[in-house]
Amino acid sequence: MLLLRRCPRLTRLCSVRHAATPALAPCAVPCSAPYAAPYAAPCAARFSSDTDFRESRWSRRWTHAAAGLLAGTGAVLAYALHQHQAEKADAITGPPVDKLPSSSPSSSPSSSSSSLPVFSQEEVSRHRSLEDGAWVTFKGGVYDITEFVAMHPGGDKILMAAGGAVEPFWALYAVHNQEHVLEILSAYKVGELSVEDQKKQQHLNPSDPFSADPERHPVLRINNLKPFNAEPPPEILTESYVTPNMLFFKRNHLPVPHVDPAAYELHVEIQGASAERGGTLSLTLDDLKTKFPKHTVTATIQCAGNRRSDMHKAKQVKGLNWGIGAISNATWGGAKLRDVLLAAGYSPDDAKWAKHVQFEGLDQDVGGTTYGASIPLKKALSEDGDCLLAYEMNGETLPADHGFPIRAIVPGTVGARNVKWLGKIVVSDVESSSHWQQNDYKGFSPSTDWDTVDYKTAPAIQELPVQSAITVPADGAVVDRDDEEVLLKGYAWSGGGREVVRVDVSIDGGKTWQTAQLKGSDEGGTAEAAAPPPGQAWAWKLWELTVPLPEDEQEMEVVCKAVDSSYNMQPDSILPIWNLRGVLSNAWHRVHVKIDEGGE
Ligand code: MTE
Repeated sequence: MLLLRRCPRLTRLCSVRHAATPALAPCAVPCSAPYAAPYAAPCAARFSSDTDFRESRWSRRWTHAAAGLLAGTGAVLAYALHQHQAEKADAITGPPVDKLPSSSPSSSPSSSSSSLPVFSQEEVSRHRSLEDGAWVTFKGGVYDITEFVAMHPGGDKILMAAGGAVEPFWALYAVHNQEHVLEILSAYKVGELSVEDQKKQQHLNPSDPFSADPERHPVLRINNLKPFNAEPPPEILTESYVTPNMLFFKRNHLPVPHVDPAAYELHVEIQGASAERGGTLSLTLDDLKTKFPKHTVTATIQCAGNRRSDMHKAKQVKGLNWGIGAISNATWGGAKLRDVLLAAGYSPDDAKWAKHVQFEGLDQDVGGTTYGASIPLKKALSEDGDCLLAYEMNGETLPADHGFPIRAIVPGTVGARNVKWLGKIVVSDVESSSHWQQNDYKGFSPSTDWDTVDYKTAPAIQELPVQSAITVPADGAVVDRDDEEVLLKGYAWSGGGREVVRVDVSIDGGKTWQTAQLKGSDEGGTAEAAAPPPGQAWAWKLWELTVPLPEDEQEMEVVCKAVDSSYNMQPDSILPIWNLRGVLSNAWHRVHVKIDEGGE
């Protein structure tokens, strides 16, 4: 609309496009066209992961087609407006110094023989807003596009690219790969990117927002490559009490963001706090490491979708097909969330209105939507809640896949609330408005289907129910009759700090039971694992049981079930707990093992 007001010539162009595409509706839509494109692209990414699957293929195709058409219109409009303004400016100052004609859309508008100043990527990164100036890089050139933001057909969405390379965004919105767009850009050139930083950028593949994701260990079983979701194979999962960082399961909804630790700031806000008390606080990574005491907590993280494949086998669900490995255990080090909230000005008076602590990640989709979640304020503030803003994982710097530089650790709580790449914390009277808090990661009745689901009717999952699984032997394994016995191994864990007090194991499908041995500190666990304070059993228990092979059977159905300190037990079968998203899959775990009679 801004464009139409400023350039009457464009109003005609806009209405012609409307006439040709009546279904595209009102005039405002084409003029904000690139808004449509950013939201079309993430849909594709989300469908490949496990978010909302309900949109039909037809409506997605239509969205993409409409977005492309609209974005094209927008680019033409921007160009016309840019020309219009440039002509006016030229009349006063002459043409821009570096307005080079480009031979093809893929050629650079920048000239290597330019006498313009050289900037480092760090300097460019400081220009991410209209106030600080909006700079982008493109093929080695640095461009100050601050003035162009008001002319951009997609409005200030262009600011998402500010401070970095524009190529990945143009790869997503291919409409920019046109000569006249390069011509627009060339007018805003202010310098060259340092050769060193150009080299760093070269290994990035602009057409792939995931190309800069970190290296991963090949042993991980990949459930989805982009975004990356993978779990360790069961047989190595319980080899150590604390999971090595490289083998820890990885669950990403979006590309891994690249955070410059020197520029990183965590923003904390106590909504409604009076100005005298503060209510906002910005902390650098160094602040978090030096101004708050460091705490360590050994806590298991489990994804709500762990063991979804078992539920899927019973009846189809939608989501990533996690096996039993969407769970791992680590010792986390960092500042206490409670300490940081108090430093930001939280006072007990706030408890009258504040109920939630919202977390916002720095990972975002192409539309700028960031990952977010929230937890109850009580959990965040509790001395015994042990919530951390972690910068260490198993004594090492938090790895990129696990939230570098800072992630929330919310012990006893579903993985989804342990927000990685934390950018913002807000104490609020409402939960996070994020899709992952409001829609995803909720449990429903077995009779709820995709036509009847009403997300508002179910609370967001926080504490998880009791869980256990058999890691050794694997389902379908064959054991030798001559061995006479078999070693069974697995893990057990419960949410909310409830300690696992017993694991029952059966080798006859659940007719008879034996009690497994829970491993303590001397057997690979830690002292806290052996005797955690009541209500603070955040870490899993590994268990083992050696059983003689049954004499009259050629096959065993091995089953395990755990009991927690509240005497919660796992349900015996899946169908009564089945839900359309396949979350909270914690029925008795079963594996089938054959006994090889050695040719008898
Ligand atoms: N935080 C951000 N910012 N983005 C994400 O995609 N995934 C969540 C949570 N925190 C996620 C996030 C989910 S669903 C889980 S299960 C855990 O991170 C997984 O943590 P991990 O990858 O360190 O195992």
